[in-house]
Amino acid sequence: MKENTANTDKPVSIGVFDSGIGGLTVVKTLRAAIKEANIVYLGDTARVPYGTKSEETIKRFAREDTVFLIEKGVDLIVVACNTASSVALSYLKREFKDIPIFGVVEPGVNMALNASKTGKIGIIGTIATIKSHAHRKLLNKQGVLKVYEKACPLFVPLAEEGLTKGQIPRLVAEYYLHDLKEKVDTLILGCTHYPILMDTIKEVLGEQIKLIDPAYALALQVKSFLNNNGMIKNTGENGTLDLYLTDIPPHYHSLLSIFLGFTPDTIEKVDLKDISRC
Ligand code: DGL
Repeated sequence: MKENTANTDKPVSIGVFDSGIGGLTVVKTLRAAIKEANIVYLGDTARVPYGTKSEETIKRFAREDTVFLIEKGVDLIVVACNTASSVALSYLKREFKDIPIFGVVEPGVNMALNASKTGKIGIIGTIATIKSHAHRKLLNKQGVLKVYEKACPLFVPLAEEGLTKGQIPRLVAEYYLHDLKEKVDTLILGCTHYPILMDTIKEVLGEQIKLIDPAYALALQVKSFLNNNGMIKNTGENGTLDLYLTDIPPHYHSLLSIFLGFTPDTIEKVDLKDISRC
């Protein structure tokens, strides 16, 4: 494990990566919970989506993202991408033993377990997330055997288009979720993009089904880790947000406003080519 920074005046630095811009929904929640932390974000916009890739490729990409953040000197890493968390988290933890790495699957599952009254829990995510059965395996271990899994790949482009309300997202949500109402009382939003569509999903499922955004539980988990290790400096100042993207897409301004809602301190285009050889 990396030594904690308790004896330095430097604010803690949290490295966050995602397949693209979607992980900024997680950054927003992390910043609200731990405002003093500096955040270094890597969005692999050149290779998004991860959710349609093979396990082997997702692991390779996740490894390169992790190396990039370690080289930026971060104190811990958050895998904001649900796909990378589902497919590659154990692999990353084995490969990089010197740095704490947090994923979004376990916090989401724990939050769902707390919220569910009937023990019937659903999970929606990308094709790769659902195929990994990462949530189902954890839920099964906790004795929850009725787990409903559904891949909803079209939610990703809808969120990126800013098409979050109205007829089109509603039809898509109905198409994916129509038979869910009877089956679950709690649904994990297992993709960085889905919280953007929260209102439409709620409209289709009704208020009685609890929607779980794993980012909240993840932020609390990271905060308590930092507190337990004396790593939070109460400077009273907001930390910085530095964004690194592997491609700057033409519509990145609109993506930033949808997923983040404020301007980061810096934005830089980076190439992970050198890292691929590590
Ligand atoms: N960030 C991904 C996730 O949370 C969604 C987009 C993708 O498929 O890469 O699973």
